[in-house]
Amino acid sequence: MRTYQFINEQSFNTFTLRKQIMTNKINRRKFLIGGTALGVASGISNISGAQAPSIKKGSVKPVVVASGNGHTMKNGGKFNCVETAYNRIVRGDDVLDALIEGVNIVELDPLDASVGFGGRPNANGVVQLDSCCMHGPKKQAGGVGALEGVRMPSLVARDVMEKTDHHLIVGKGAQDFARNMGYKIEDDLNSDRSRKMWLDWKRRIDPEHYLDPEKREVAGRNAAMDMIKEGIIPEDEYYGTINCNGINADGDICGVTTTSGLAWKIPSRVGDSPILGAGLYVDGNYGAAGSTGRGEANLYGLCSYLIVEEMRRGSHPLDAGMTALKRIQENTVEKRLLNERGLPNFSVNFYVIDKQGRFAGVALYGEYASGEPRKYAVCDENGSRLEDLEPLLSGSSV
Ligand code: GLY
Repeated sequence: MRTYQFINEQSFNTFTLRKQIMTNKINRRKFLIGGTALGVASGISNISGAQAPSIKKGSVKPVVVASGNGHTMKNGGKFNCVETAYNRIVRGDDVLDALIEGVNIVELDPLDASVGFGGRPNANGVVQLDSCCMHGPKKQAGGVGALEGVRMPSLVARDVMEKTDHHLIVGKGAQDFARNMGYKIEDDLNSDRSRKMWLDWKRRIDPEHYLDPEKREVAGRNAAMDMIKEGIIPEDEYYGTINCNGINADGDICGVTTTSGLAWKIPSRVGDSPILGAGLYVDGNYGAAGSTGRGEANLYGLCSYLIVEEMRRGSHPLDAGMTALKRIQENTVEKRLLNERGLPNFSVNFYVIDKQGRFAGVALYGEYASGEPRKYAVCDENGSRLEDLEPLLSGSSV
């Protein structure tokens, strides 16, 4: 068994997790592309976090990171999410505007059944979308939960941020707000594909179990896991989402997360994605982190906030991400959530950038059940690509 080693000795000394964490030894160079090695050169703050790292304007190498669909989905166009965002960032556009234009591509792409139009519907067959965004320099945030009828909830999240005194609007009120802001409200955001998958799932479960939350969870989850094993839906699309974070040359950091949430969820279930601190957290002075994967596991520990706090204390993005994954592992004790090895039977993934432009993508598991590696999207001066997520635990969640 290989062992994960924390990059930053300070965080290693503080948390003494080195021996407890079973995962891959990292190739450190991989995480320093576009960044500064070990935080020495640009004056990262000490472990107390008393001082934000001072970043010279124009000195950071811009980078955008996202979940893998930020590289693979193009909605029939030329550019993917991370390229679109990166190109705007290096042009000098606002970082959050650039990121949101990027995730709009995925929200509109019917081939991505985990985000926006054509996203997985809830148990009643209705697509309900969650999103939030945070603007590091402006220290502003906005989100929507269980929003129906609007293809690009990230735009509505930004309107909540820019045009209201609030951070989160949900359900019917979020739709009313969107209508009042001029958004077209559609009757149904299912694509033919998402509707067909829902019908398949519905056929497999016993709806009478709806009255028994525990049995229903098992029945619904088993049906979904069978569909994943049969190759009917990709594992990513069960919990799927896109998180996208970016930084420009001046060190301006922003992030956005958008999703249709857990496939076939109980109507109005809201996961981690629109919750500040869970699906996304940005502190303009220290960094950004966002997630995909099982939202409930992340919500319980507000792990994006935890990651940014770790970076504030001086941790490298990779160490900070690993600390959050370890927390999730520690908090997962219910039998129904454990596999035969006694480990979480799901994955959670985080995409992290710090103020210096150092970045990392981490996951509870580095492989899907199929054995394929889990990857995330990166775009920097070397172009758009997929890189392996760094795992906490070996193998896959099954
Ligand atoms: N992470 C997406 C969700 O759980 O809704």
